[in-house]
Amino acid sequence: MSGDKVTIPKVISMKEKGEKISMITAYDFTGAKIVDEAGIDIILVGDSLGMVMQGRSSTLPVTIDDVIYHTRMVKNGTKRALVVGDMPFMSYQVSVEEAVKNAGRLIQEGGAEAVKLEGGREFVDRIKAIVSCGIPVMGHLGLTPQSINIFGGYRVRGRKQEEAKRIIEDAKYLQEAGVFSIVLEAMPLSVAKEITESVSIPTIGIGASKLCDGQVLVFHDLLGLFEEFKPKFVKRYAHLKQDAVRAVRQYIDEVKKGIFPDEEHSYL
Ligand code: KIV
Repeated sequence: MSGDKVTIPKVISMKEKGEKISMITAYDFTGAKIVDEAGIDIILVGDSLGMVMQGRSSTLPVTIDDVIYHTRMVKNGTKRALVVGDMPFMSYQVSVEEAVKNAGRLIQEGGAEAVKLEGGREFVDRIKAIVSCGIPVMGHLGLTPQSINIFGGYRVRGRKQEEAKRIIEDAKYLQEAGVFSIVLEAMPLSVAKEITESVSIPTIGIGASKLCDGQVLVFHDLLGLFEEFKPKFVKRYAHLKQDAVRAVRQYIDEVKKGIFPDEEHSYL
Protein backbone atom coordinates (compact mmCIF):
# COMPACT_ATOMS: atom_id res chain seq x y z
CA MET A 1 0.00 0.00 0.00
CA SER A 2 1.36 3.39 -1.01
CA GLY A 3 0.70 6.46 1.16
CA ASP A 4 0.01 8.68 -1.86
CA LYS A 5 -3.46 10.11 -2.43
CA VAL A 6 -5.45 7.88 -4.78
CA THR A 7 -6.36 9.71 -7.98
CA ILE A 8 -8.18 8.70 -11.16
CA PRO A 9 -4.90 8.30 -13.17
CA LYS A 10 -3.57 6.11 -10.33
CA VAL A 11 -6.68 3.87 -10.44
CA ILE A 12 -6.33 3.46 -14.21
CA SER A 13 -2.60 2.75 -13.92
CA MET A 14 -3.27 0.00 -11.37
CA LYS A 15 -4.95 -2.06 -14.08
CA GLU A 16 -2.01 -1.50 -16.40
CA LYS A 17 0.38 -2.70 -13.66
CA GLY A 18 -1.82 -5.68 -12.72
CA GLU A 19 -2.29 -4.24 -9.21
CA LYS A 20 -5.69 -5.15 -7.72
CA ILE A 21 -7.97 -2.27 -6.67
CA SER A 22 -9.73 -2.40 -3.28
CA MET A 23 -13.01 -0.55 -2.84
CA ILE A 24 -15.54 -0.47 -0.01
CA THR A 25 -18.57 1.61 0.87
CA ALA A 26 -18.66 4.05 3.78
CA TYR A 27 -21.34 6.46 4.90
CA ASP A 28 -19.93 8.52 7.77
CA PHE A 29 -16.78 10.01 9.37
CA THR A 30 -15.98 7.04 11.63
CA GLY A 31 -16.47 4.42 8.92
CA ALA A 32 -14.41 6.43 6.43
CA LYS A 33 -11.57 6.83 8.95
CA ILE A 34 -11.50 3.05 9.57
CA VAL A 35 -11.30 2.08 5.90
CA ASP A 36 -8.97 4.95 4.93
CA GLU A 37 -6.52 4.14 7.73
CA ALA A 38 -6.66 0.47 6.69
CA GLY A 39 -5.44 1.57 3.24
CA ILE A 40 -8.48 1.14 0.99
CA ASP A 41 -8.05 2.59 -2.52
CA ILE A 42 -11.61 3.76 -3.24
CA ILE A 43 -14.50 4.65 -0.91
CA LEU A 44 -17.96 4.54 -2.46
CA VAL A 45 -20.72 6.47 -0.73
CA GLY A 46 -23.22 3.99 -2.12
CA ASP A 47 -26.96 4.32 -2.40
CA SER A 48 -26.87 1.06 -0.41
CA LEU A 49 -27.08 3.57 2.45
CA GLY A 50 -30.83 3.22 1.93
CA MET A 51 -30.62 -0.30 3.34
CA VAL A 52 -27.79 -0.20 5.86
CA MET A 53 -28.21 3.36 7.19
CA GLN A 54 -31.91 4.07 6.66
CA GLY A 55 -33.40 0.58 7.06
CA ARG A 56 -35.28 0.65 3.74
CA SER A 57 -35.92 -2.48 1.69
CA SER A 58 -34.25 -1.14 -1.49
CA THR A 59 -32.06 1.72 -2.74
CA LEU A 60 -34.96 3.37 -4.57
CA PRO A 61 -36.05 5.91 -1.90
CA VAL A 62 -32.53 7.36 -1.52
CA THR A 63 -32.27 10.99 -2.67
CA ILE A 64 -29.38 13.08 -3.97
CA ASP A 65 -29.56 15.12 -0.75
CA ASP A 66 -29.08 11.90 1.28
CA VAL A 67 -25.97 10.98 -0.70
CA ILE A 68 -24.56 14.52 -0.47
CA TYR A 69 -25.07 14.50 3.32
CA HIS A 70 -23.27 11.17 3.75
CA THR A 71 -20.50 12.08 1.27
CA ARG A 72 -19.66 15.20 3.31
CA MET A 73 -19.19 13.07 6.44
CA VAL A 74 -17.09 10.52 4.56
CA LYS A 75 -14.85 13.26 3.15
CA ASN A 76 -14.17 14.48 6.68
CA GLY A 77 -12.76 11.07 7.60
CA THR A 78 -10.77 10.43 4.40
CA LYS A 79 -7.18 11.41 3.65
CA ARG A 80 -5.90 8.94 1.05
CA ALA A 81 -8.74 7.09 -0.67
CA LEU A 82 -10.58 8.30 -3.77
CA VAL A 83 -14.15 9.22 -2.73
CA VAL A 84 -16.91 8.33 -5.20
CA GLY A 85 -20.49 9.52 -4.68
CA ASP A 86 -23.29 7.29 -5.97
CA MET A 87 -25.98 8.92 -8.09
CA PRO A 88 -29.29 7.66 -6.65
CA PHE A 89 -32.46 6.66 -8.48
CA MET A 90 -33.98 9.54 -10.46
CA SER A 91 -30.98 11.83 -10.02
CA TYR A 92 -29.77 11.20 -13.61
CA GLN A 93 -32.52 9.24 -15.39
CA VAL A 94 -34.81 12.19 -16.24
CA SER A 95 -32.51 14.29 -18.45
CA VAL A 96 -28.94 15.16 -19.31
CA GLU A 97 -29.38 18.53 -17.55
CA GLU A 98 -30.56 16.90 -14.30
CA ALA A 99 -27.72 14.38 -14.47
CA VAL A 100 -25.07 17.10 -14.88
CA LYS A 101 -26.62 19.27 -12.17
CA ASN A 102 -26.79 16.43 -9.64
CA ALA A 103 -23.31 15.11 -10.44
CA GLY A 104 -22.07 18.68 -9.90
CA ARG A 105 -23.83 18.85 -6.53
CA LEU A 106 -22.10 15.64 -5.39
CA ILE A 107 -18.74 17.24 -6.21
CA GLN A 108 -19.45 20.79 -4.99
CA GLU A 109 -21.61 20.15 -1.94
CA GLY A 110 -20.56 16.60 -1.01
CA GLY A 111 -16.87 16.86 -1.84
CA ALA A 112 -16.88 13.66 -3.95
CA GLU A 113 -14.03 13.28 -6.44
CA ALA A 114 -16.07 11.18 -8.88
CA VAL A 115 -19.62 9.89 -9.31
CA LYS A 116 -21.05 6.47 -10.11
CA LEU A 117 -24.20 5.71 -12.06
CA GLU A 118 -25.96 2.50 -13.06
CA GLY A 119 -26.79 1.47 -16.62
CA GLY A 120 -25.40 0.98 -20.10
CA ARG A 121 -25.88 2.47 -23.56
CA GLU A 122 -29.07 4.27 -22.55
CA PHE A 123 -27.04 6.68 -20.39
CA VAL A 124 -24.13 7.40 -22.72
CA ASP A 125 -25.37 10.98 -23.28
CA ARG A 126 -25.47 11.63 -19.51
CA ILE A 127 -21.98 10.17 -19.00
CA LYS A 128 -20.47 12.21 -21.84
CA ALA A 129 -22.06 15.42 -20.55
CA ILE A 130 -20.88 14.82 -16.95
CA VAL A 131 -17.34 13.91 -18.03
CA SER A 132 -17.20 16.99 -20.29
CA CYS A 133 -17.72 19.11 -17.14
CA GLY A 134 -14.57 17.59 -15.63
CA ILE A 135 -16.36 15.09 -13.39
CA PRO A 136 -15.03 11.52 -13.52
CA VAL A 137 -17.71 8.84 -13.86
CA MET A 138 -17.67 5.21 -12.70
CA GLY A 139 -20.12 2.89 -14.51
CA HIS A 140 -22.14 0.02 -13.02
CA LEU A 141 -23.37 -3.00 -15.04
CA GLY A 142 -24.95 -6.40 -14.39
CA LEU A 143 -27.28 -6.41 -11.42
CA THR A 144 -28.18 -2.73 -11.19
CA PRO A 145 -30.36 -2.45 -8.06
CA GLN A 146 -32.12 0.73 -9.22
CA SER A 147 -33.81 -1.41 -11.93
CA ILE A 148 -35.01 -4.03 -9.46
CA ASN A 149 -38.66 -3.59 -10.46
CA ILE A 150 -37.82 -4.47 -14.06
CA PHE A 151 -35.59 -7.44 -13.10
CA GLY A 152 -38.13 -8.71 -10.54
CA GLY A 153 -35.45 -9.65 -7.97
CA TYR A 154 -31.77 -9.48 -7.01
CA ARG A 155 -30.64 -12.25 -9.36
CA VAL A 156 -27.42 -12.86 -11.26
CA ARG A 157 -27.45 -11.10 -14.64
CA GLY A 158 -25.96 -12.37 -17.91
CA ARG A 159 -26.56 -16.10 -17.54
CA LYS A 160 -28.40 -16.15 -20.87
CA GLN A 161 -26.27 -15.57 -23.93
CA GLU A 162 -28.30 -12.62 -25.19
CA GLU A 163 -28.15 -10.82 -21.86
CA ALA A 164 -24.43 -11.54 -21.49
CA LYS A 165 -23.81 -10.11 -24.98
CA ARG A 166 -25.69 -6.94 -24.11
CA ILE A 167 -23.74 -6.42 -20.86
CA ILE A 168 -20.41 -6.96 -22.67
CA GLU A 169 -21.43 -4.47 -25.39
CA ASP A 170 -22.56 -2.00 -22.72
CA ALA A 171 -19.11 -2.09 -21.12
CA LYS A 172 -17.64 -0.96 -24.45
CA TYR A 173 -20.25 1.79 -24.78
CA LEU A 174 -19.37 3.02 -21.28
CA GLN A 175 -15.65 3.01 -22.02
CA GLU A 176 -16.24 5.02 -25.21
CA ALA A 177 -18.43 7.46 -23.28
CA GLY A 178 -15.49 8.17 -20.96
CA VAL A 179 -16.01 6.27 -17.68
CA PHE A 180 -12.78 5.63 -15.74
CA SER A 181 -13.88 2.26 -14.35
CA ILE A 182 -16.92 -0.03 -14.20
CA VAL A 183 -18.51 -1.89 -11.29
CA LEU A 184 -19.62 -5.37 -12.41
CA GLU A 185 -22.30 -6.72 -10.07
CA ALA A 186 -23.60 -10.31 -9.84
CA MET A 187 -22.63 -11.94 -13.13
CA PRO A 188 -20.98 -15.20 -14.19
CA LEU A 189 -17.20 -15.38 -14.19
CA SER A 190 -17.10 -15.79 -17.97
CA VAL A 191 -18.93 -12.49 -18.56
CA ALA A 192 -16.76 -10.57 -16.06
CA LYS A 193 -13.63 -12.10 -17.65
CA GLU A 194 -14.62 -11.09 -21.16
CA ILE A 195 -15.40 -7.52 -20.10
CA THR A 196 -12.22 -7.17 -18.04
CA GLU A 197 -10.13 -8.38 -20.98
CA SER A 198 -11.90 -6.27 -23.58
CA VAL A 199 -11.76 -2.83 -21.90
CA SER A 200 -8.65 -0.85 -20.92
CA ILE A 201 -10.31 0.72 -17.85
CA PRO A 202 -10.49 -1.20 -14.55
CA THR A 203 -13.45 -3.41 -13.68
CA ILE A 204 -14.44 -3.66 -10.02
CA GLY A 205 -16.41 -6.76 -9.14
CA ILE A 206 -19.05 -7.53 -6.55
CA GLY A 207 -20.26 -11.06 -7.11
CA ALA A 208 -18.40 -11.06 -10.43
CA SER A 209 -15.42 -13.33 -9.61
CA LYS A 210 -11.76 -12.64 -8.91
CA LEU A 211 -11.09 -12.06 -12.59
CA CYS A 212 -12.05 -8.38 -12.22
CA ASP A 213 -9.36 -5.73 -11.72
CA GLY A 214 -10.66 -4.94 -8.25
CA GLN A 215 -13.34 -5.80 -5.72
CA VAL A 216 -15.97 -3.88 -3.77
CA LEU A 217 -18.04 -4.86 -0.73
CA VAL A 218 -20.53 -3.01 1.45
CA PHE A 219 -18.92 -1.91 4.78
CA HIS A 220 -21.69 -3.40 6.93
CA ASP A 221 -21.57 -6.74 5.06
CA LEU A 222 -17.78 -7.12 5.34
CA LEU A 223 -17.81 -6.34 9.07
CA GLY A 224 -20.88 -8.42 9.90
CA LEU A 225 -22.91 -5.40 11.00
CA PHE A 226 -25.86 -6.07 8.67
CA GLU A 227 -27.59 -9.41 9.16
CA GLU A 228 -30.96 -8.89 7.43
CA PHE A 229 -29.78 -10.92 4.42
CA LYS A 230 -26.48 -12.18 2.99
CA PRO A 231 -25.90 -12.54 -0.76
CA LYS A 232 -23.62 -15.44 -1.82
CA PHE A 233 -20.80 -13.04 -2.72
CA VAL A 234 -20.57 -11.48 0.75
CA LYS A 235 -17.66 -12.60 2.92
CA ARG A 236 -17.89 -11.50 6.55
CA TYR A 237 -14.43 -10.67 7.87
CA ALA A 238 -15.79 -9.86 11.35
CA HIS A 239 -19.00 -10.21 13.36
CA LEU A 240 -19.28 -6.75 14.83
CA LYS A 241 -23.07 -6.81 15.27
CA GLN A 242 -22.78 -9.76 17.65
CA ASP A 243 -19.85 -8.10 19.47
CA ALA A 244 -21.83 -4.86 19.79
CA VAL A 245 -24.93 -6.59 21.19
CA ARG A 246 -22.73 -8.45 23.69
CA ALA A 247 -21.06 -5.18 24.79
CA VAL A 248 -24.36 -3.31 25.19
CA ARG A 249 -25.84 -6.26 27.15
CA GLN A 250 -22.86 -6.14 29.52
CA TYR A 251 -23.29 -2.38 29.95
CA ILE A 252 -27.00 -2.81 30.77
CA ASP A 253 -26.17 -5.54 33.27
CA GLU A 254 -23.51 -3.42 35.00
CA VAL A 255 -25.85 -0.41 35.20
CA LYS A 256 -28.63 -2.53 36.70
CA LYS A 257 -26.26 -4.07 39.24
CA GLY A 258 -24.60 -0.75 40.17
CA ILE A 259 -21.21 -1.97 38.91
CA PHE A 260 -20.87 0.86 36.39
CA PRO A 261 -19.62 3.53 36.86
CA ASP A 262 -16.87 2.41 39.22
CA GLU A 263 -14.16 4.65 40.75
CA GLU A 264 -12.06 4.56 37.60
CA HIS A 265 -14.88 6.16 35.60
CA SER A 266 -15.99 8.70 38.25
CA TYR A 267 -14.76 12.16 39.30
CA LEU A 268 -13.73 11.84 42.95
O1 KIV B 1 -24.58 1.27 -3.47
C1 KIV B 1 -23.64 0.47 -3.39
O2 KIV B 1 -23.15 0.14 -2.30
C2 KIV B 1 -23.10 -0.08 -4.63
C3 KIV B 1 -22.08 -1.16 -4.52
C4 KIV B 1 -22.72 -2.42 -4.12
C5 KIV B 1 -21.28 -1.30 -5.74
O3 KIV B 1 -23.49 0.32 -5.68
